[in-house]
Amino acid sequence: MRLQRRGRYAWPASALVSLIAATTLVTGSAAQAAEVAEVVDPAANPSVETRCPWVGSDAPVEQRIDQLVSRMTLDEKLDLVHGSAVPFQFVGPTYAGMISENPRLCIPRLGLSDGPAGVGNGHTGVTQLPSPMALAASWDADLASRYGATIAREARGKGADVVLGPTVDLLRDPRAGRSFETLGEDPHLTGELAAAQVGGIQGEGALAQSKHIAAYNQETLRNLPANDSIVDERTLQEVYLSPVQDVVDAGTASVMCGYNRLNGVHACNNTYLLSQVLKGQFGFDGFVTSDWFATQASHAAANAGMDLQMPGGCHYGPRLRHGINSGAVTTSKLDDMVSRILRPMFRFGLFEREKNGSPDDVVTGPDHAAVAREVAQKGMTLLKNDDALLPLGDDTGSVAVIGDAAGERVIGSGGGSPHVIAPEIVTPHDGIAERARRAGADVTFDDGSQAGEAAGAADVAVVVARKWSTESKDNKDIRLSDKDNEMIRAAAANPNTIVVLNTAGPVEMPWLDDVAGVLAAWYPGQEYGDALASVLYGDSDPGGRLPATFPVSQADLPAADKDRFPGGAYDEGLAVGYRWYDREGIEPLFPFGHGLSYTTFGYSELEVDGDGGAGTTVTATVTNTGERAGSEVAQLYVAHPESAGEPPKRLEGFRRVELEPGESERVRFELDERSLAQWDVDADQWVRGAGDYTLSVGGSSRDLPLTGDLAVADEMPVSEPTPPPPPGAPKGDDPAWTKIGNVARCPVESLYAGMIGAISLFGLPPGEQATRPPRNPTDEG
Ligand code: BGC
Repeated sequence: MRLQRRGRYAWPASALVSLIAATTLVTGSAAQAAEVAEVVDPAANPSVETRCPWVGSDAPVEQRIDQLVSRMTLDEKLDLVHGSAVPFQFVGPTYAGMISENPRLCIPRLGLSDGPAGVGNGHTGVTQLPSPMALAASWDADLASRYGATIAREARGKGADVVLGPTVDLLRDPRAGRSFETLGEDPHLTGELAAAQVGGIQGEGALAQSKHIAAYNQETLRNLPANDSIVDERTLQEVYLSPVQDVVDAGTASVMCGYNRLNGVHACNNTYLLSQVLKGQFGFDGFVTSDWFATQASHAAANAGMDLQMPGGCHYGPRLRHGINSGAVTTSKLDDMVSRILRPMFRFGLFEREKNGSPDDVVTGPDHAAVAREVAQKGMTLLKNDDALLPLGDDTGSVAVIGDAAGERVIGSGGGSPHVIAPEIVTPHDGIAERARRAGADVTFDDGSQAGEAAGAADVAVVVARKWSTESKDNKDIRLSDKDNEMIRAAAANPNTIVVLNTAGPVEMPWLDDVAGVLAAWYPGQEYGDALASVLYGDSDPGGRLPATFPVSQADLPAADKDRFPGGAYDEGLAVGYRWYDREGIEPLFPFGHGLSYTTFGYSELEVDGDGGAGTTVTATVTNTGERAGSEVAQLYVAHPESAGEPPKRLEGFRRVELEPGESERVRFELDERSLAQWDVDADQWVRGAGDYTLSVGGSSRDLPLTGDLAVADEMPVSEPTPPPPPGAPKGDDPAWTKIGNVARCPVESLYAGMIGAISLFGLPPGEQATRPPRNPTDEG
């Protein structure tokens, strides 16, 4: 039973689970046992130097790879290209996935651990960081790097080698179950922050596995044929693949292919995605891993460019052996797959490294909690602050904290593989009570049932509303529950009411005119309450800016039409996020990039220097024109010439600055080749179109006081074209009879694969938020 408590999905003991256990035990392990390579007793070969000259060697990595691969048997190669799942491994208590060690050849085992928001997989003793969405709201690449480093240190402390993150999927629609796990709706913001995170993870010696390639933006029916993203090539390249290129440029060791089909072909056996774009166009030399149970083909997946099957190994065990023996997959292809896995293992020194971490170790600590607090603070986004009600001061005599989400129903972390269990969460009530005590104010708590009375009896009411979101199930709307909306309306009887949103992303706010303030806190992790109190009392400036547009109503969403979401028709095209609202002339409730500070900022002296190519710079002065120190995120948007067919503007740069009152700073944005370019579908490459470009700088996508022009005289290609498919790569999906054959030959994995889709109809029970469960103050008497 311990496994079920610690498992990341906290599954009930159901018939389903018994079925999985039984079938895995009987068929999965048996199949794997049969294919385990002959193991040579290392004791008979005492010297590692003689047996494994590639260990500790100074030779170039490629030479060491060749040396090792040339000594590997077919069995050993096959063992390296798939996971060695034992029953339940994928729900805990060790790692999400594992490649077995090979003692004969001194290949260490490789542990793969979730995920993008901290160490998951049911582990305890870890730091529950704020969600990636909260990180995105900080618009702070340095912080993203430290966030990544924190995750990597903890993953390594648990004995894992690969961090399954960052997530580079965009927030195409805020109803998506995994929206909290994204870095928002914009490809540039996502790419920059994810690249910084990769740097942070890999700087600590762990391998980053960026996920998921590509256009995986919903949970509904995932991994089933119906989950097919139909995306035109230009949109795919400009919007969904652009952050993938950024993480490849940042050196990500690995990339995970997603559950969805893309234009009819499953992402994990999609030649265009994996071989032509990722490995060809982007020059990725690491390995592609299947999402868990997303392998639906064997020979086609290998030939399309998927290198590692997770978490088990029927498709890449017995089925791939058959492919090699029959010639359907060449030995050189298999050698390439093996080499791609070994390459980062050599680069990161995994062959030489002592493994001293263990899943039972406590890896969190004050330094990591401080990172969690900083991200939570810098991500908190003040959307509305009438009459400068905030920050609260010593003159606030009493505060009513209202809502269960300020106590026992607090959400620190969303659900599914990104879920992280906190040691303890500082709830909004805990944090506010502690800070208010220092300010000499009284604090009361109400669970929401007497919201009007509680609010009416205090100087200021802080109402906390929540909306749960999890991997495996999309939300049906972006509305708060009726109960929460009523609670807010009741509390709004007090004109000094502040609403705190504990949500994955954008929600509708039908009560907006009735309240004085709104603060988006996202899923802010274990330090939530302290970060919130610090922002409410002005100990820190609310640092967040929106990484996603808040629409007035769900009907305004770019993919509001059900053919688009969850139907999979991406016919809003390039108009993702704010680009949609701009193109369609829709007024958002709060625009992308928006966020208030407790001070004010002015922009001046825009300078554009260069021809529009890489190295072109845009410089502007930001001045703190108010009375308090504060932080601002200067944003650069580019409007393309009309002939380019782009939405009205694209974010192409951002800089976060902290300024004292009266202080100014010159901020400098450096353009890259893609900043002023469009994807040309005829030439299969990026091209900078001729014409007049407008560069605007300001504090949000709808507040851009500075503009400058840049004329591009001649159209010019700015990238190499996408290469053609490699020889032997499948042109489309497997034919129906091959698919049936795959299911028949790998029945257990096919069952799991189908269940991943079926579960998306029901969702999974939420995991524990903290090992010491948060409580309502009234429960304590
Ligand atoms: C998710 C991945 C995750 C994997 C391993 C899958 O359900 O889609 O993002 O890394 O599980 O837990």
